[in-house]
Amino acid sequence: MQGIKVDFSNVKKFVSDEELSLVTNDIMRAHSMLENKSGAGRNMLGWLDLPSNRDEAELERIKTCADRIRKQCDVFIIVGIGGSYLGAKAVIDLFTDTFSNMLPLSKRKAPEIIFAGNNLSGKYLRNLIEYIEDKEVAINVISKSGKTLEPAIAFRTLRTLLEQKYGIRGAAERIYVTTDSSTGLLLNIAKKQEYETFVIPDNVGGRYSVLTPVGLLPMAVAGINFEDILDGAQFASHVYNDTNLEYNDCYKYAAYRNILYMKGKDIELLGSYEPSFKYFIEWFKQLFGESEGKNGKGIFPAGVNYTTDLHSMGQLIQEGKRNLFETIINIELDRSFIELPSMEDNLDELNYLAGKDIDYINKQAFLGTVNAHVEGGVPNIIINIDDLNEYNIGQLIFFFEKACAISGYILGVNPFDQPGVEAYKKNMMSLLTIDKE
Ligand code: PA5
Repeated sequence: MQGIKVDFSNVKKFVSDEELSLVTNDIMRAHSMLENKSGAGRNMLGWLDLPSNRDEAELERIKTCADRIRKQCDVFIIVGIGGSYLGAKAVIDLFTDTFSNMLPLSKRKAPEIIFAGNNLSGKYLRNLIEYIEDKEVAINVISKSGKTLEPAIAFRTLRTLLEQKYGIRGAAERIYVTTDSSTGLLLNIAKKQEYETFVIPDNVGGRYSVLTPVGLLPMAVAGINFEDILDGAQFASHVYNDTNLEYNDCYKYAAYRNILYMKGKDIELLGSYEPSFKYFIEWFKQLFGESEGKNGKGIFPAGVNYTTDLHSMGQLIQEGKRNLFETIINIELDRSFIELPSMEDNLDELNYLAGKDIDYINKQAFLGTVNAHVEGGVPNIIINIDDLNEYNIGQLIFFFEKACAISGYILGVNPFDQPGVEAYKKNMMSLLTIDKE
């Protein structure tokens, strides 16, 4: 069942139907490039088949391993950066209690989940080391290349700690590796130490890897039913393959954002009124930023968390430079059912809202903001999701992955490489090497 419907009515004021029809050929060309595997990055299209071509034995191994991790630790540390953590963090944040890490063990359904290796902060690592000192720990280190500095440094530090605490063999039982099938330093370590290892398929790049063990093992440890996510993505892979733009919201989204870009709207704000989408937005930023930002081109993907950011970014969005458009994720059914209480003294003068569901108030803020921003010259694309469940989020993940690939091809870039990421690494490595000498 389709849980996602995209409302383009608030873009029509900015883009005519004729302009939309003019990009139809480009969309069809991009579609063929994906279908026939004839475009740039053609050997990195494995993500298209992940939801349908499932390796059931491997999925079972992930579940079994997740059960073992849940039993063996209080704290599960996921070490990875970029595509090797954002998808897992995004989904875990959506489907676990907002305060789950702070709940006592008896109330939590899973170990506490902490992410590391996504920065080079000494403070972060020091605080983490102190925090886990008296806790049972397991680690999932994730790196496709197996040589990224941030996770490598965190992993070496944590591995040393675990080996001191549990011994080399004991540590090996608590270290899980997700990496390339055949190369990389991490794979060498995993083989030598006999760590349980999961493979990131060769034809799936980091930012498209959330539906591989990269995302699925952490999700399973968190107690999330990843089969439903895969089912949703599988459904989306059929729906969003329709060559009739009228019935394909994913292609229409790609078309509109590229037309808006041509009209000078070169910043896209992905926003939500649900704070637990914060890391989904971060995942989106990496997906689109690394895929499109090359050859002097690309929409700048940014994020807003509403209503919080209406009190920080709202002014600029309403009246600043008119180079923005917004894509808003709207969850139609909120299951928290919390009403504003009535108060006899009414000192805060809020009794006019007494008895109203908090989500109702949030929705009025959403509707009011969309109208204000559209009036102010900011086109809005609304992604309506009927319920916040795994199946729908699976659809949403695939929606953005496919839209990103189509959008990149329309833009004339290779959406599956990231040559620009090497520039800072080269400088950093030469500084670190000089330092060493
Ligand atoms: O999309 C990508 O390929 C990158 O953003 C990577 O995910 C990121 O750089 C981490 O790389 P690795 O998994 O090789 O450590």
